[in-house]
Amino acid sequence: MSAKYQSIKGFADLFGAQSALFTRLEDSARACFALYGFAELRTPILEYTELFQRGIGSETDVVQKEMFSLLDRKGRSLSLRPEATAGVLRAAIERGLKEGEIQRLFSFGPMFRYERPQKGRQRQFHQINCECLGTESPFADAELITMLLDYLGGLGLNGLTLRLNSLGCRACRPGYLAALRAYLASLAPERLCADCLRRREQNPLRVLDCKEENCREAIAHAPELANYLCEDCASHFAKVRQLLESVPENLAQIVLDSRLVRGLDYYCRTTFEVLGPISSASAASGLGAQSAIAGGGRYDGLLAQLGGADLPGLGFAIGMERLALLLEESPAPGLDFFIAAQDSAGENKARDLAFVLARELRKQGFSGEMAYQQASFKSMFRQASRLGARYCLIIGSSELASGLIGVKDMVSGGQIELARESLGAYLQKAKVGREEN
Ligand code: HAM
Repeated sequence: MSAKYQSIKGFADLFGAQSALFTRLEDSARACFALYGFAELRTPILEYTELFQRGIGSETDVVQKEMFSLLDRKGRSLSLRPEATAGVLRAAIERGLKEGEIQRLFSFGPMFRYERPQKGRQRQFHQINCECLGTESPFADAELITMLLDYLGGLGLNGLTLRLNSLGCRACRPGYLAALRAYLASLAPERLCADCLRRREQNPLRVLDCKEENCREAIAHAPELANYLCEDCASHFAKVRQLLESVPENLAQIVLDSRLVRGLDYYCRTTFEVLGPISSASAASGLGAQSAIAGGGRYDGLLAQLGGADLPGLGFAIGMERLALLLEESPAPGLDFFIAAQDSAGENKARDLAFVLARELRKQGFSGEMAYQQASFKSMFRQASRLGARYCLIIGSSELASGLIGVKDMVSGGQIELARESLGAYLQKAKVGREEN
């Protein structure tokens, strides 16, 4: 019989190994970001639609085609957040971000975009998001990117590519846009796709990012943004690059890419994306080398645009599903012990002891379960193995008589007997050895 209710297309349940992996990704992020002075912020998943229209830009695909919007009972338009930045800034403004103060905030959580679901692209997906508000310093850009790469490196990823660009500022971008518009206007209409024909007037930067082969050829000789940067933007960008290059074990290959414009309208100056390794995992996962696992940049006008003080800011978001695809399947989190306790008919002595022992070990920091039901030792060993237990502790009639506990190594199959008081030290030694490997 098929299930009566199914999850919504593009919305997935997370459980088992994937859920454990997400927890690991979040735990590692908390630990890494704390080293850089970031604090956690949790914002609501529903916001007024207008926040995203003003924040992300009403001409963007995200706002035009991808939002999940609804009317509340008073007829106000609300939307599920398609990204975190607008909500984080709204929260910072409400709390009163002051001039001269730097706020570093990270958040995790689900985002919603009505896109065509495929591998690494869902309608509900999760981001790890960081924002640094209140500073224009290129040191902040370099630190933020370094933190992102440190985090990804700490997860064991290498062979990453960092695409880096500067989009200029309010002073120099208009000059570039004028040159780009003129170039695009000179192209015969058949050289551009329907979307780009629309974009060339309204949002010409996005034409640079089009994936259509025809459009890519057409813009091959488009003016380069790098040649239009004002002095301030050029030296800001040079400093960011110099700082990134000065990090000795920087694990990403830095590729300057003047066509990196990103899909959200708020960016200025530094923009970047991190692409996964071209080899093995990404190929096997089907994610493809070109899918960004993270993206971000500066948005110096955005706080003011949302009603706050005219303060600069920058940030990034990592797509957790994409990151999970790149990391090898994480093994199910195993238990430290499983207690196989077997009583004679009508008795509970072995299980009573197991109950007390399990609690004793958990208090020492070991994870474990006990067998509630009576079964053969063989079937209890199978249960221990299914649970991924490292050791199976055995309590049967002979252990009750001797006062010792049987300890079966579930990896080697070897078995010894230990006094109850020595169990903690024994499990600890094995655990430390495992973590060192
Ligand atoms: P974004 O590039 O739109 O930037 O998204 C960041 C990351 O989220 C992407 O690189 C990708 O890994 C993941 N992502 C986006 N859409 C999906 C999807 N439909 N399914 C799965 N993963 C997805 C932002 O969202 C900006 N708010 C980042 C930022 C923060 N910029 C400054 N601060």
